[in-house]
Amino acid sequence: MRTIEWHNGRVRMIDQRLLPLEYRVVEYDDYHQVAEAIRDMVVRGAPAIGAAAAFGLALSARQSRAENVPALMADLEQAAEVLRRTRPTAVNLSWALERMLRRARAGRWGSVTELTTALEAEALAIADEDVQVNRRIGEVGAAIVPDGANILTHCNAGALATVEYGTALGVVRMAVEQGKRVHVWVDETRPRLQGARLTAWELMRDGIPMTLIADNAAGHLMRAGRVDLVLFGADRVAANGDVANKIGSYQLAVLAKENGIPCYAVSPISTIDLSLATGDEIPIEERPAEEVTVIDGRRIAPEGVPVYNPAFDVTPHRYLTGIITENGIAYPPYGVSLRKMVNGGG
Ligand code: MRU
Repeated sequence: MRTIEWHNGRVRMIDQRLLPLEYRVVEYDDYHQVAEAIRDMVVRGAPAIGAAAAFGLALSARQSRAENVPALMADLEQAAEVLRRTRPTAVNLSWALERMLRRARAGRWGSVTELTTALEAEALAIADEDVQVNRRIGEVGAAIVPDGANILTHCNAGALATVEYGTALGVVRMAVEQGKRVHVWVDETRPRLQGARLTAWELMRDGIPMTLIADNAAGHLMRAGRVDLVLFGADRVAANGDVANKIGSYQLAVLAKENGIPCYAVSPISTIDLSLATGDEIPIEERPAEEVTVIDGRRIAPEGVPVYNPAFDVTPHRYLTGIITENGIAYPPYGVSLRKMVNGGG
């Protein structure tokens, strides 16, 4: 199944907290549950979070007791606020909610039912488009993957981070579909271990050659000439090309530059936020201390230890070779090229 889908008026998603030990699908009929699922990372990854929020808003319309369209609009605005507050860094969340609200505001709805139905259709369109976008990103990106490449990736920018197929892993998948031989170095990605748990699971299921490494092994491998390409996803791209992605991405990009290795961020257009001039303006989520001090229910650090747990970092654009989108690859100067990509590429 897809990472997230709409089924008989309910939202279904794979519970990513349990993988790879257990594959469980959860179903929600209350948008508050969807908000909690986003916050608790049942569903995670920028595009998947966007789709989840869209379905959440569609659910809120079904749940609403409003008897007329203006009352439903008020309920929708309130539900969007609840969903928006769940995770701050991935711009796809507010992008999807804004798109849903635009659709709601734009129509001349004859009834509450008409608007509710239109919102379900819009959420389904967001999910379907994500799948198509990822395949196009794959086609664009596969062009820069050399045959025989050793690719290093971070976190999970795969099918599980999207509705289907993936962004950074979509590029890998497409290169493989095109007959290229690749091998992927998978960073474990502390503290939530999205690499060890999710990327490893996805690639092994697809039979794509991979090796799991501790995060701190990356520099050693690069210096030894065992990495040809670094590919990671994006949670928000600022107008100047600075990229927020999972904590640890920045150090990989710096190491790649130091070792003369190309490093690309892979980002759908929906992740580009031209309203922010630089990455300094991107809000960085801080998550609970327990993500660092507890592994699998077992405490590994002293009780009461002070912890700082930023979930994302910003890679300044100068460390990136390019930014792969569905409309083409943006190269420096990003102020010009990203705008062009957002307007359709070419
Ligand atoms: O905290 P997460 O797991 O939601 O973070 C995910 C990432 O940082 C991904 O690399 C990013 O969202 C791109 S996903 C296609």
